[in-house]
Amino acid sequence: MADKIERDELTGVNTTGHEWDGIKELDNPMPRWWLWVFYASIAFAVLWWILYPSWPTHRGHLPGILGSNARVDLEVRLDQARAAQAVFLERIAELTPQEIDQTPELRAFAVHGGERHFKDNCATCHGLGGGGQLHYPSLADDAWIWGGTFDEILYTINHGVRNEDDINARFSMMPAYLADGILSRQEINEVAEYVISLSGREHDGELAAAGAEHYEIHCAACHMDDGGGMIELGAPALNDFVWLYGGDRDQIRRQIANPRHGVMPPWQGRLPDEVIKMLTVYVHNLGGGQ
Ligand code: HEC
Ligand code: HEC
Repeated sequence: MADKIERDELTGVNTTGHEWDGIKELDNPMPRWWLWVFYASIAFAVLWWILYPSWPTHRGHLPGILGSNARVDLEVRLDQARAAQAVFLERIAELTPQEIDQTPELRAFAVHGGERHFKDNCATCHGLGGGGQLHYPSLADDAWIWGGTFDEILYTINHGVRNEDDINARFSMMPAYLADGILSRQEINEVAEYVISLSGREHDGELAAAGAEHYEIHCAACHMDDGGGMIELGAPALNDFVWLYGGDRDQIRRQIANPRHGVMPPWQGRLPDEVIKMLTVYVHNLGGGQ
């Protein structure tokens, strides 16, 4: 290809001398504004290298004369946040959950912090916001299995329920009436019918009447005569519409035949005491605290 520079007749501009298949390239200069932006970018880059960390070297990188360091900045900010929190945490360490709840700024801090720790540690079982799910109780209503005062909630969180990690765990065992041969299948159907009648639902009167006798002998000691339940034994109320294991006939029969014995892990030692107090205040504030 011949590199022949020549003047273009139409525009009066020289060509670069390149030609492809008869098409020739005009040698127009770059627009001036473009050139200035280009030079300014170079100047900016050089200035940046001088001021901020830039080129890699054998031992690390050029530090820049401003001494800026994102990692150090983050550390400083984290330290500031920790110091700000420490003021609250120190006071929380000294107080009971009830006292924390009565101090407005501590209460706000505990409820906020408690919510975060609840999402991390408890929500898998108790649901976001403590709404509960089948087999895991709601913590947001006022039906309490083990009690809804500050002290009772604190104890439950510290020690858990029926676990083998903590000898102080809350404990009680509903007998397995079918598996242990205490009641027959028919008797279980009868007592289940009586349980259904306790919450005023539609039921078979004859079956329930037979069930009332078994209930009196086998169940009332824990669940009480009226089915109101007993907090000391962690026996849930049977006369309301809140069911840990489901309230339909089959679910109730299954629980009597072979109870689940729900387990909750202990948190003492696993979470700092301050966090457990914050969780107590959070749970109490979900709506059902007593
Ligand atoms: C592995 C599942 C699991 C996790 C995780 C868990 N729990 Fe529980 N929790 C349970 C079960 C199951 C029960 C009910 C046990 C029973 O009495 O049958 C329970 C009961 C409770 C109760 C008593 C409710 C009542 O009605 O008296 C409280 C309060 C509670 N949990 C709080 C918490 C908090 C706070 C956390 C997080 C630090 C947590 N739980 C983490 C399974 C769990
Ligand atoms: C030693 C005390 C005790 C006795 C006796 C007992 N229970 Fe229970 N019951 C419990 C406990 C504790 C629970 C909670 C849960 C568990 O197993 O995790 C429970 C749970 C239940 C539930 C499930 C409640 C729900 O919310 O889902 C039903 C239904 C029930 N019992 C019925 C009975 C009947 C009927 C009898 C008698 C035949 C009986 N229980 C005898 C302690 C007892």
